[in-house]
Amino acid sequence: MRTGICKHFGQCGGCSFQDISYSVQMLCKEESIRELMLAYGINCELKPINSYKEWFYRNKMEFSFGRNEGITCGLYKKGSHGELIDVSECLIFSKDAGIVLKAVKDFFTMKGNSVYNKFSHKGFLRNLVMRETKFTNELMLGLVTTSSEELDKDGFTSMLKRLNLNSTLKSVYRIVNDSISDAVIFEKKELLFGEPFIEEKLDEFKFKIAIDSFFQVNPLAIRNLYGKIRDYAKLSKEEKVLDLFCGGGSIGIFLAGMAKFVWGVEVSQAIIDCAWQNAKENNIENISFFTADARAFLNTQGTFYKDIDVLIINPPRPGLSNKIIRAVLRLNPKTIFYSSCNPDTLFANLKELSVAYKPEFIEPFDFFPHTPHLETLVLLRRL
Ligand SMILES: C[S@@+](CC[C@H](N)C(=O)[O-])C[C@H]1O[C@@H](n2cnc3c(N)ncnc32)[C@H](O)[C@@H]1O
Repeated sequence: MRTGICKHFGQCGGCSFQDISYSVQMLCKEESIRELMLAYGINCELKPINSYKEWFYRNKMEFSFGRNEGITCGLYKKGSHGELIDVSECLIFSKDAGIVLKAVKDFFTMKGNSVYNKFSHKGFLRNLVMRETKFTNELMLGLVTTSSEELDKDGFTSMLKRLNLNSTLKSVYRIVNDSISDAVIFEKKELLFGEPFIEEKLDEFKFKIAIDSFFQVNPLAIRNLYGKIRDYAKLSKEEKVLDLFCGGGSIGIFLAGMAKFVWGVEVSQAIIDCAWQNAKENNIENISFFTADARAFLNTQGTFYKDIDVLIINPPRPGLSNKIIRAVLRLNPKTIFYSSCNPDTLFANLKELSVAYKPEFIEPFDFFPHTPHLETLVLLRRL
């Protein structure tokens, strides 16, 4: 064992595996999948785990403001309910994180603005949202405050523009959030400087990222996962593809060029708006999106899509409910790609699907180095 590399390791709850060498982390993750295969009696090929850049892979962080002698800004301490670590570096996010955090803290310490208190619901400074594209190196900042004090907008943007950053500062927002919820809520957003979006590039596709839009956190890894799904699917422009839990539509956008038609289903209207925009941006015309709950969709509109060839399933951590599993079995697609960020619910679902589907292979992707999390792709064929 060696000590963690990041200054905040041990205090910050972010990357609990940092004191384990990366090659051992990979072995542990692979082993955990083998154990689940054994426990659920799933017998198929386990492909080697895919790994990427170990550091600076995340494209988004939300830091919170606090106060010590001056203003602090960082992440909540592991297991605490409100104790903040004043962050000066974040090695899984961006080389610019420390530079921006220091400058923003110094600026507001000098200005004398107050910090929001999540218990009394009083005060001004709440969060700093940072988003960084990894293939195009663009940076977007969002300062989240209440409306209780004046912000020196010109002073704030001029100070940020003077910073010597590795990425290009493309966009600065001020977000007003007067809600009592502790989450970052984009009640009102105002572009203080630059472009409304930053743009990420995955292979030949461009994705516009707004301050409040959904985008998978590790772009290098998702480019690889989506590319692999496209290769494994071997589409011939004849196939109908349904992408359940489609998010911003990126898997469907990767597949559309090789498919006859792609439908995407996603519960959030704001995310579906991004999906339409992404399809338009990439001139993809054989794709359509539905704002719907996956189960409701399969039980209603889904009955019109009887001859789906390829079903993509990429659900949130709780996986598929029994009712969705039954709806998927009724849909009866030839091939299913199930990609999950929670191996426990994935394997429980594989067992339930085994009445009609056999896994051809399981392939883990280390989307989240230095954390216990793992993305896993399974290719299932109809029996
Ligand atoms: C793991 S993300 C998948 C994102 C997408 N496949 C991608 O690669 O960008 C899961 C998505 O499912 C959506 N979601 C959650 N519950 C849902 C439901 N019941 N029906 C449809 N979509 C849902 C979430 O909003 C989220 O965008």
